[in-house]
Amino acid sequence: MLVIKDAMATLDLTFAPCPDGQLSLPDANGAHIWQIDLDVARDAMLSASEQAQAKAMRHAEKQSHFVAARSALRVILSKYVGGTPNNLPLATAAQGKPFLDLAGAPQFNVTHARGKALIAVAPMAIGIDLEFARHVRQLDRLVEQYFAPAEEKALTALPDDQRAQAFLAAWTRKEACLKATGEGIAGGLHRYQVTLRADEDAQLLAIDGNETAARAWTLHAFRAFGDGQAAVCAATPSLSLHGFAL
Ligand SMILES: CC(C)(COP(=O)(O)OP(=O)(O)OC[C@H]1O[C@@H](n2cnc3c(N)ncnc32)[C@H](O)[C@@H]1OP(=O)(O)O)[C@@H](O)C(=O)NCCC(=O)NCCS
Repeated sequence: MLVIKDAMATLDLTFAPCPDGQLSLPDANGAHIWQIDLDVARDAMLSASEQAQAKAMRHAEKQSHFVAARSALRVILSKYVGGTPNNLPLATAAQGKPFLDLAGAPQFNVTHARGKALIAVAPMAIGIDLEFARHVRQLDRLVEQYFAPAEEKALTALPDDQRAQAFLAAWTRKEACLKATGEGIAGGLHRYQVTLRADEDAQLLAIDGNETAARAWTLHAFRAFGDGQAAVCAATPSLSLHGFAL
């Protein structure tokens, strides 16, 4: 369960061991966040087309992480909807967001980085993103291109040593929003204005400059896998998170 905030004003989300048996869907304002280590050996649970997709991958690590992430997704979803993991009808929306093509099925979203994955499951549209600290090349150019003017101003006002982390925090939050709507990055990172300072709670402030539209969504930031920065955005005015580890 969420609640405590660390020095970065992110939620301190703990991840309980995977419960045995079937799981109920989170309630109307809740989401389950699953963390998965993609380097832990597990049974592959892929559909025939995913097997072919994996087989076509030339890079061994990319292939094994794809198999691990897709299998974990199928195992997790089957805990909510029953059925055999590799037979669940996963489909892909126009801009690439996977969904479960089943009446009453939960919504979900996946993010992976450096052999780790997070999966958010909820009754409403949801997006999740994970980034690890890294050197960002051409930060100023990216800010100019993808940040709203108010975000650029907030970032510029920060001391040099805080700018890279604030940039990454904002990027993760914006991506979570665009993944929640299903638009993906092509939807326009600059359109989603978020908080980015270390002493501010994660919040979606405006969509296309419209603050009322932003209030229909909730954005949370939390740490995962040690120093990973994660953000989750969902189509609800309030959201509580419960973490599980597969
Ligand atoms: C989806 C997207 C935001 C991924 O960003 P990323 O930081 O590289 O990757 P993440 O690990 O966070 O997320 C990848 C997962 O997001 C999901 N995803 C793919 N498209 C998505 C979309 N439009 N909306 C929400 N989720 C999406 C998939 O589950 C994918 O994992 P999978 O390929 O293993 O199934 C980005 O690649 C994107 O916008 N793609 C859409 C197509 C597009 O706009 N292409 C032009 C690129 S500029």
